Amino acid sequence: MQSIVILISGGGSNMAALVRAAQQEDWAARYGAQIAAVISNRADAVGLRWAQAQGIATHTISHADFPDRAQFDAALAQAIASCVGAGKPPLVLLAGFMRILTPTFVQAHAGRLINIHPSLLPAFTGLQTHERALAAGCKFAGATVHRVTEVLDEGAILEQSVVPVLPEDDAQSLAARVLATEHLIYPRAVRRLLAAGFS
Ligand code: GAR
Repeated sequence: MQSIVILISGGGSNMAALVRAAQQEDWAARYGAQIAAVISNRADAVGLRWAQAQGIATHTISHADFPDRAQFDAALAQAIASCVGAGKPPLVLLAGFMRILTPTFVQAHAGRLINIHPSLLPAFTGLQTHERALAAGCKFAGATVHRVTEVLDEGAILEQSVVPVLPEDDAQSLAARVLATEHLIYPRAVRRLLAAGFS
């Protein structure tokens, strides 16, 4: 069985979209894949409660408990490994996981580490993507599912969605329109990876 571990920091709506897709499309039977655990770096992440209610194993590894990024990432890697035991290395999906990962962590999960970012990459890497898209006068915005490399928000693009920016938009309304499309493209990207054996 191919295990999937989802990392979140907050609301977890992308995580929920992935869980629903896995359930509704029976990823276990179709691809031999199952969502093994949801891990958050924040104990108060709303998504953790939703995942628990679905019967999914959840864990919190709080970044505040570690003196530096390297030690947090080492604990995170250990938690991920312990969720999946001795089987195949897991697919690790960042779903609103708001931590920059160290090169050591990225290299350890190379080829199996995916992120969703709320902009049309390579535009607007980093934070405040919707504010910056509005300030730049963009007529379109969107989201990107991409492979994670050591450079923030830079890896190969797997899927993108595009939405119009409307004259009356503020960052909140634009974020909501983009987020609705994230829930479609993240499961689509993962489905394609599973079908292709991650190649
Ligand atoms: C999503 O818009 C996701 O693209 C973004 O955070 C939101 C999380 O929402 N991720 C990043 O900004 C990563 N740099 P969710 O918790 O409801 O899935």
